[in-house]
Amino acid sequence: MKHLIQISDLSEQEIDELISLADDILQDSARYREALRHKTLATLFFEPSTRTRLSFESAMLELGGNVLGFADPNSSSATKGESVADTIRTVECYADIIAMRHPKEGAPLAASMKSRVPIINAGDGGHHHPTQTLTDLFTIKREKGRLTNLVVGLCGDLKFGRTVHSLVHAMSRYDGITFVLISPEELTLPDYLTEGPLKRDNVRVAATNSLVSTLGELDVLYMTRVQRERFFNEADYVRLKDSYILNRAMLEHAKPDLAILHPLPRVNEIAADVDDDPRALYFRQMFYGKIIRKALLISLMRNYECLK
Ligand code: NCD
Repeated sequence: MKHLIQISDLSEQEIDELISLADDILQDSARYREALRHKTLATLFFEPSTRTRLSFESAMLELGGNVLGFADPNSSSATKGESVADTIRTVECYADIIAMRHPKEGAPLAASMKSRVPIINAGDGGHHHPTQTLTDLFTIKREKGRLTNLVVGLCGDLKFGRTVHSLVHAMSRYDGITFVLISPEELTLPDYLTEGPLKRDNVRVAATNSLVSTLGELDVLYMTRVQRERFFNEADYVRLKDSYILNRAMLEHAKPDLAILHPLPRVNEIAADVDDDPRALYFRQMFYGKIIRKALLISLMRNYECLK
């Protein structure tokens, strides 16, 4: 694999290998301090980001590499009308690997078709977010000890949430997964996912609009933000934004070893009184995000060196 555009670019074996490498990095980070010395990562973020961009940059720096990029797309030549293809032809002269986030679905794929150096999709519109999924899988593996035989609740904006879409693609391939899809009628999972991976892999699926009634059955609860930037009108967003607010009292109905995940940022969907509950893993999850991104950077650079 040269680029990572969607999670299905990785086989289960490749995901296992990344998780093992990330485990090793966690155990002995000093051994990897020079792993990407003299290599440069460019971060091209055409949409806002805190965790994804900074975790990529901090991962690269901790591996002894360099980073460059722009934090504000308005300061790039994209505002002058430059195409993604030309931007990539430019940046590949200055960097060995590129992480790109773009509001247009397919932009990182288009970039990968022109690029000499590896492209990592750091989120494209409402489509894919494979490195968040690696983060989610690594978190579940570390905290639950397995990626099989789990009841996984996906709650919130299942229509526009790209992290949910990539996670569905990934987890459908593991044995014994049951998805509980918890969303308002207007924000249900797109048909291309229910008719695609969920049907193809014969995944058990239940759908509901009630979080409370289903909380007790879940091993993993994946909360998400209603994706304001993907709505066509503000009134719909305002009506739907507080559809689910998880609070501490509700957790009385949950399993004692429930894993509560959230890709973050949260807006209102998890009350602050949940943060101290040992089942709240979303802050640890973003730490794991940096570690698995280190594993990914090392592995893509190794493959690239072999292919050159
Ligand atoms: C997510 C994203 O950008 O899709 N954030 C992230 O990368 N951790 C989730 C979101 O913005 O709601």
